This record gives sequence, C-alpha cells and structure tokens, in this order.
Amino acid sequence: MSARLRPPESARATALAHPNIALIKYWGNRDPYWRWPANGSFSFNLDGLWTRTTVHFRAELEQDVLWLHRRRVTGEGLRRVQRVLDAVREQAGFTWKAEVISENNFPMAAGIASSASAFAALAVAAAAAAGLRLREPELSRLARLGSGSAARSVPGGYVEWRVGAHEADSFAYTFAPAEHWALADCIAIVQETPKAIGSSAGHNLAETSPLQAARVADTPRRLALVRHAVQTRDFELLAQVVEQDTHLMHAVMQTSTPPLLYWTPASVRVMQHVRAWRGQGQPVAYTLDAGPNVHVLCPADDAANVATALAEVPGVQRVLIARVGGPARLLPPEQALSPKGPAASEG
Ligand code: DP6
Repeated sequence: MSARLRPPESARATALAHPNIALIKYWGNRDPYWRWPANGSFSFNLDGLWTRTTVHFRAELEQDVLWLHRRRVTGEGLRRVQRVLDAVREQAGFTWKAEVISENNFPMAAGIASSASAFAALAVAAAAAAGLRLREPELSRLARLGSGSAARSVPGGYVEWRVGAHEADSFAYTFAPAEHWALADCIAIVQETPKAIGSSAGHNLAETSPLQAARVADTPRRLALVRHAVQTRDFELLAQVVEQDTHLMHAVMQTSTPPLLYWTPASVRVMQHVRAWRGQGQPVAYTLDAGPNVHVLCPADDAANVATALAEVPGVQRVLIARVGGPARLLPPEQALSPKGPAASEG
C-alpha cells in the first residue's frame, strides 16, 4: 500500500453504464469470493437503459453510505458496494469512506441485470474519484468483484468475458463495436416483482446440478459459434446457439438442489410465439436470465414491429426496446447526483 492517506482534492466522480444481455450465460463460479466464473460468457450492452452513479470520498465520513433512488441502503447491498470501494482504497492507498449515490432509469425487478450496470458505473466512478487511472481490463475486473455480469458492462458493444488463467486475468473486452451489427433486445415484461432467488444465490447452487459440468464443458463450442455468428452477422446461427444456451442454463437451474424455476406460463407462451415467428421466416430469438421476463433479439429495424407483436401475447405487461449500447463512461461534474437531488435525465 502506498503512503498516500487521502484521495486527491477532486475526490468525486460520476459515471454511467448500461446493463447487458448475455448471449452465452455466466452461471456458476470457480471461486465465488472473487466471482471467478465457471465459464466464459458473451453479451451486448443495452443502450437507452442505464445506471448513473456518483462516488464521493470524504474525510469526515465515519462509514460508507449508499443511496439508491434517494433511499439509504444497508446490509448486503452496501457490503457488495464496499467490496469494490475497498479494492479501490487499497490500490489508491487511502482509507477515506465514501458516499455513493445511484439511480437507474429502468425497473430494477424487470429481469434486467441492474447489478451489471450498477457495479460497472460504480467501478468507473470510484476509480476516477480516487484518482486511479485504470485501463479497461482493470475496471472490468474491479466491476466483477461486485457482480460478475458487471465485468461485461464496462467495455462497449458486443463483449466477451473470458474465464482467464487465474482470477486477476478474468475480465471482459469488446469483441465488436456496437455499430458492427444493429440488433435490438425487445424485453417482454411478464412480471415486475423481485425474483425469489437472486443470481448470487443461484450461482452457488449450480454445482448441485448434474448437468452443470456438461454445460460448462460445452461452453467453448457455443462461444465459438456466437463469435462466428456476430462476426458474420448470421442471425439464424445466433438464434440457434443463444436459445440452446438459455435452455442449458435453465436446465441447470431446474435440476439444482433446491431447483430454481424462473419461468411463468407467460414466459413459455412468449418463447413459443418467438419460435413460431422464426419458423415463418422472421429473424427473432429469445433468451431469459434468472427471471421470467423474455429478451427477444431481432434486427434493430424490426424492433418496433416485434415489440407490437409481443405486447399482444397474453401475459405480457409491457415491452422495453434497447439497441446495442456503448461502454461505461465518466460524466462531467455537473451531472453528479446528490442524495436529495432531483431525478436525473440521461447525460
Ligand atoms: C443469469 O452477474 O447477476 O444473468 O455475480 O452474483 O451478481 P452476481 O451474478 P450476476 O449473474 C448473471 C446471471 C445471468 C447470466 C448472465 O448475465 O450471464
């Protein structure tokens, strides 16, 4: 640790990050403490949806304070944030506590991984506030300590998170920029209430499924297919591998002890409709994370029509549309959040 005990004068920074949708899923950890994943994964960032976070290291604070949507958060949520703050403080060589203020522009229980954008924005803001000049891989690793999928929300566009030879070597990078392929994610929301078992608890159950080892062993093949599909903009190939990957993860979830069944009848209805539409020649594919809402991928130009069709499926409450988004980024000081400040608009 360096001798520096206090952050630089300008100890405040604000960052914005997008959530992401995994095309090849992260499920299970080699080492849960470090969130070193069992397998590599692949995603794209979701433009238009974001978390904005301000981090302010202050000498007079006796403890770290977290505000989410202007409400004070303690307990496990605060502890995860502290994992990232502690890593930053250790690297920067000071002990000042921080005030962290965060907000999302999308519903947190909508089956969109808000932890991905939250910890990507936190990592970028905290490192800058502490005066650390970290490169993208280091920021990706830092975000990963708070939430695995957050590693993928640091770089922009189409992103791969490699397992790495050891935990320090496990970070995400841009496989192709957002402009490479104009896809969209139409998120069919069938349930807005928070899920009963979150991802972190779910990851710890993965090993109890006899199918997890086979899923992990086959991941390099699926990753190679997704890379090829993205590289060549082959939607049909993408659809096949993305849906297979979804079913492999949910098969593991459903055969864990205790079993996790995230689907509702409406989720299944949406999946069946998407399969039928693709059978009629429409380029659409579905994927589901640890929740019942269905992410329907399609060419961006088709998104409005796909969303209209999805909204007519019984049980779909509403549909969000997101195109492929860019990297996490710092925002100018005037866009900083304050705990009591007005609700923000995108920067
Ligand atoms: C199903 O990154 O949310 O969305 O590391 O415990 O925060 P933690 O888990 P998280 O897991 C994501 C699981 C997933 C698949 C994926 O996004 O790859």
